[in-house]
Amino acid sequence: MSGSGLPSVTIRSESAERTRAVGRAIARRLRAGDVILLHGDLGAGKTTLTQGIGQGLLVNGAVQSPTFILVDEHGPAPGGLGLHHVDLYRLSGPGQLESLGFDEYLDPHGAVTVIEWPERAGDLLPETCLAVTIGHEGDVRLITLEGWGDPGSTRRWLEGILEAVEPEN
Ligand SMILES: Nc1ncnc2c1ncn2[C@@H]1O[C@H](COP(=O)(O)OP(=O)(O)OP(=O)(O)O)[C@@H](O)[C@H]1O
Ligand SMILES: [Mg+2]
Repeated sequence: MSGSGLPSVTIRSESAERTRAVGRAIARRLRAGDVILLHGDLGAGKTTLTQGIGQGLLVNGAVQSPTFILVDEHGPAPGGLGLHHVDLYRLSGPGQLESLGFDEYLDPHGAVTVIEWPERAGDLLPETCLAVTIGHEGDVRLITLEGWGDPGSTRRWLEGILEAVEPEN
């Protein structure tokens, strides 16, 4: 449990593949409308984690760092969820959020939204979301998952997640 009283889980990852496995474990718990915020410095592994989420959802197209665009929309596998991958690093200002239709991404239909650099959106973020913070400790990443808002969603995201990450071969 975190100091705020909200549940949090920290998972250690020593490789990009391991971080993707964490993403796949998260993906198996997601439902349409979920929003995931990814915090962490440049190169922390936010996009790598998103690749795992995309693998877990079996979405179309490879998850990469959006370069000139701020959003990549990946279509769903049959019967699955789509993935809206938003990266606000290059956001020029609040006006651009509006032209992006950012609101729509906070209430995704038939899809989930993953947001890198969510702090760029200021307070324009949903109350209920899964916040992931990736910290460095040398080559090791510490991936902290924290649920905000609706307790049912928080439980669905976090309960047993540590055990749900595929074991390493
Ligand atoms: N344990 C690990 N977890 C994730 N990535 C790792 C790990 N160890 C090494 N890496 C490497 O670190 C880099 C992480 O890059 P990535 O693009 O995922 O970061 P990012 O947080 O999305 O950065 P940016 O803020 O620039 O978008 C990759 O090159 C990845 O291979
Ligand atoms: Mg990235």
